[in-house]
Amino acid sequence: MTATTTVRTAARVVDAVKVYGRGDTEVRALDGVSVDFPAGRFTAIMGPSGSGKSTLMHCAAGLDTLTSGAAHIGDTELGALDDRRLTLLRRDRVGFVFQAFNLVPTLTVAENITLSLDLAGGRGDPEWLDALIDVVGLRDRLHHRPSELSGGQQQRVAVARAFAGRPDVVFADEPTGNLDSRSGEEVLGLLGRAVRQTSRTVVMVTHDPVAAAHADEVVFLADGRLVDRMESPTADKVLDRMKAFEVPS
Ligand SMILES: Nc1ncnc2c1ncn2[C@@H]1O[C@H](COP(=O)(O)OP(=O)(O)OP(=O)(O)O)[C@@H](O)[C@H]1O
Ligand SMILES: [Mg+2]
Repeated sequence: MTATTTVRTAARVVDAVKVYGRGDTEVRALDGVSVDFPAGRFTAIMGPSGSGKSTLMHCAAGLDTLTSGAAHIGDTELGALDDRRLTLLRRDRVGFVFQAFNLVPTLTVAENITLSLDLAGGRGDPEWLDALIDVVGLRDRLHHRPSELSGGQQQRVAVARAFAGRPDVVFADEPTGNLDSRSGEEVLGLLGRAVRQTSRTVVMVTHDPVAAAHADEVVFLADGRLVDRMESPTADKVLDRMKAFEVPS
């Protein structure tokens, strides 16, 4: 008998198929993907443009539905939820960071961070929020409006907002896509610290090997299929793996 350690899974999809359109315009964006995202880890999803990365993230996060297969957040199967329960699950258990920061321009940094908690009618955990403000380094910007911040600072607000409600998992789609490389490094370092210092789970879509190297593990998609996983990635190793996907011309 071997000893088994139980690794909790924050999110997973099983036999995930996503078909867009029909007939001549049919696209099989996900073609039978099974993948789990372990709790307390930072996982990157990589693959060429059009390989299904955003589709996988949206379906895993309950922003879109699968054509067949199942998506779970923790032990909850998303397909079993009605719209109201799915909305509540996304609000209470999932955080999001997108390429466009999506901050509310009329609200201050502090108000943007706690917006979804306020909408949920709670105040959140004051100690957690206080610690989070230090993790993202925004204490001296709390009363500023987004327009008064740099792009990198705005994305740090979006990261703080995503973690504010202590979600089971934070999904980030190209979070550094609109940032210069220095601000991008800051945001990636921040995501890594949020995972390691606060035991949160992050799943990040990226096409940048340098960004992927911040993760604990990289999963590779090609043509809507999971083709590889890599532990302890470096930018060079990820780049080498990506080159193998390139079709020789
Ligand atoms: N709403 C949609 N309607 C029709 N086809 C779609 C839709 N969304 C995505 N697709 C198609 O599904 C495939 C996968 O798209 P997806 O956006 O998941 O790729 P991606 O890996 O995120 O690409 P990128 O790196 O360019 O963001 C592509 O062929 C895309 O054109
Ligand atoms: Mg995408």
